[in-house]
Amino acid sequence: MTSTVITNIGNLVTNDPAQGEGKLGRIRDAAVVIDGETIAWVGASKDAPDADEAYDAKGRAGIPGFVDSHSHLVFAGDRTAEFNARMEGRSYKAGGIRTTVKATRAASDEELEANLVRYLAEARKQGTTTFETKSGYGLTTHDESRALRIASRHTDEVTYLGAHIVSPDHKDDPAAYVDLVTGEMLDACAPYARWIDVFCEKGAFDGDQARAILTAGQAKGLMARVHANQLTYGPGVQLAVELDAASADHCTHLTDEDVTALASGNTVATLLPGAEFSTRAQWPDARRLLDAGVTVALSTDCNPGSSFTSSMLFCIALAVRDMRMTPDEALWSATAGGAQALRRTDVGRLTPGARADLALLDAPSHVHLAYRPGVPLVSAVWQRGRRTP
Ligand code: NIG
Ligand code: FE
Repeated sequence: MTSTVITNIGNLVTNDPAQGEGKLGRIRDAAVVIDGETIAWVGASKDAPDADEAYDAKGRAGIPGFVDSHSHLVFAGDRTAEFNARMEGRSYKAGGIRTTVKATRAASDEELEANLVRYLAEARKQGTTTFETKSGYGLTTHDESRALRIASRHTDEVTYLGAHIVSPDHKDDPAAYVDLVTGEMLDACAPYARWIDVFCEKGAFDGDQARAILTAGQAKGLMARVHANQLTYGPGVQLAVELDAASADHCTHLTDEDVTALASGNTVATLLPGAEFSTRAQWPDARRLLDAGVTVALSTDCNPGSSFTSSMLFCIALAVRDMRMTPDEALWSATAGGAQALRRTDVGRLTPGARADLALLDAPSHVHLAYRPGVPLVSAVWQRGRRTP
């Protein structure tokens, strides 16, 4: 195993208050020692121990690699026409998903995998070192399980979303589709997945259907996460808390009861500002959630319909500018918050024993991620201790 010491990190965020200042555990003039795949030491650069290799950060800022806890990357085709129509004033509807379902079913395994690899590489260059991704554009037992099989070759955080919308093949019999999703399709998909998700929304699945789907998944050992309260108010958030889902994602339309439920449970509110940006929708109110004591994560929701961005940097800038988060809060949510939304303690922070996932920024501090929007500030990335290209 090789060890590497990275010295002269001008401003390091560890997300471990025991390592440095404040909730972000900031250390000035810091160093990090990587041993194999893990962090072995963190501290002041002047105290750094020797290692096999040395890397001089030359004053750049360092952050934990981003944890993107919500994406839909197994798909084919794109939805340029739908985006254009929206920018001319049309509204976003769940039904657009059908366009991608058609293209995805028609694609070969190789095409789907090549697409996934391309988007993962794109995200990695922008500092993302942990990815969750979902099925949901197959909607048959064969197409959902092959999506998950392909995804599981590239990440441990794989989510079964057979319940994205009612399959077009069952449009006259949604109950039969729920039976399929909770029966044969679940059996075929569970071996490749860690999570089960459902789009609980008008035009997708109602509260009772969502409950049946999530509890069937939990009975097979999958953990729950929910697409909740994106387009309208609804039962998704409270159902997520009740079933101890790791995360309720979107959280755009929330009642006071929804906020109270989130504050009292173990469910993270994952906000996906790329979706509101690309659908010209109302922003989720991060400030309201944070002030109520809710744990907030930020993620891209990268998908061809509602949010075709792989950039956590972009999401941080939007969250700060439009969702009333501070730059510190947004960075925490995009790293430690994402880790909590995936119930992981080994990523999202730079502390001895954690996975050696980190990024250096061409900037004096992480605040520049929001202050300099649209600028590719990520200049070096280590994933599992390895420098990625
Ligand atoms: O998270 N909300 C449901 N699913 C995706 C959109 C998928 C699509 O439009 O293709 C989302 O925004
Ligand atoms: Fe989504």
